[in-house]
Amino acid sequence: MRISFCCTDTRAEPWLLGLRAALAGAEVAEWSPGAPQADYAVVWGPPQQFIDEQPALRGIFNIGAGVDGLLRLRLPAGARVVRLDDAGMGVQMAEYVCHALIRHFREFDGYERDMAEGRWSFRKPRSRSDFPVGILGMGVLGQRVARAVAQFEFPVRGWSRSPRQVEGVDCFAGPAQLDAFLAGTRVLVCLLPLTPATEGILNRDTLARLLPGGYLINVARGAHLVDADLLALLDTGQLAGATLDVFRTEPLPTDHPFWREPRLTLTPHTSARTLRDESIAQIARKIAALERGEPIAGIVDPARGY
Ligand code: NAP
Ligand code: GLV
Repeated sequence: MRISFCCTDTRAEPWLLGLRAALAGAEVAEWSPGAPQADYAVVWGPPQQFIDEQPALRGIFNIGAGVDGLLRLRLPAGARVVRLDDAGMGVQMAEYVCHALIRHFREFDGYERDMAEGRWSFRKPRSRSDFPVGILGMGVLGQRVARAVAQFEFPVRGWSRSPRQVEGVDCFAGPAQLDAFLAGTRVLVCLLPLTPATEGILNRDTLARLLPGGYLINVARGAHLVDADLLALLDTGQLAGATLDVFRTEPLPTDHPFWREPRLTLTPHTSARTLRDESIAQIARKIAALERGEPIAGIVDPARGY
């Protein structure tokens, strides 16, 4: 079996060694133009030429959860695209979102400023029942985050495409229930895949529907957010602030107004990193299952876009 590795911004060698160790007998090589046809591909941001030269792949394994970049390429009809299914990202995402949520709710950002200026002052405790958390996207990561947020006793609601039942979560589904979901949410977490249906979903209309003092945590993709609308709602005071991990252009351009807005907390697309060992183990397990003709989780539906 031949496996072709083609990942931009990733050092190939440790992945090649790991994949060889996990898939005994497999020939694993980094792709270069004209390389022999492989059976499986392990990719992140491959060029169109890679896809065009490998029309008979039995599986294309994306080393991330989001496949929006990969689906922008022309893929062969019937291509089997497989995304990472948690692989250690769930707990990182839970940490990140809880950190942002608690920092905002407990006003730790304000305390940090006060202490830095030599001020020993207290703020009035706030009630977590006034801070219902709404999660857009109740998939692998959204559900993990919902569980973690619920542990801190915040009310939790979730929105997905198809109806779901998740213990301890008020569930909403589809466009018809989006307004009701937003109207009862104060802290909005975006964990949607980027698809034609979700691009720009964080806009003036949707964000203005949040409870007063709304707060946004975007950990999905930059193109979910209409940047100018967020800034406008911060200016009018309709939103209290936001934590943003993802941006329309990454790295965030130095002249982008987000850098200068004090109510924003920014991080460089790091909320849930791909963990090499966990990812290799998952990909190897799935390749072995496919070779045995067994079903696997995490197959992407290109028509749905995720
Ligand atoms: P997933 O398991 O595929 O879950 C996606 C969720 O979104 C599902 O609940 C799905 O609904 C819902 N959804 C999709 N389209 C929708 C629509 N049009 N309307 C309403 N709900 C919709 O994905 P995941 O593994 O949780 O990952 C989510 C996203 O997180 C990824 O696509 C990626 O963009 C982002 N991510 C970011 C980082 C980072 O470091 N910042 C790291 C990892 C992932 P159904 O339940 O009905 O299918
Ligand atoms: C990271 O953004 C991912 O999609 O895994």
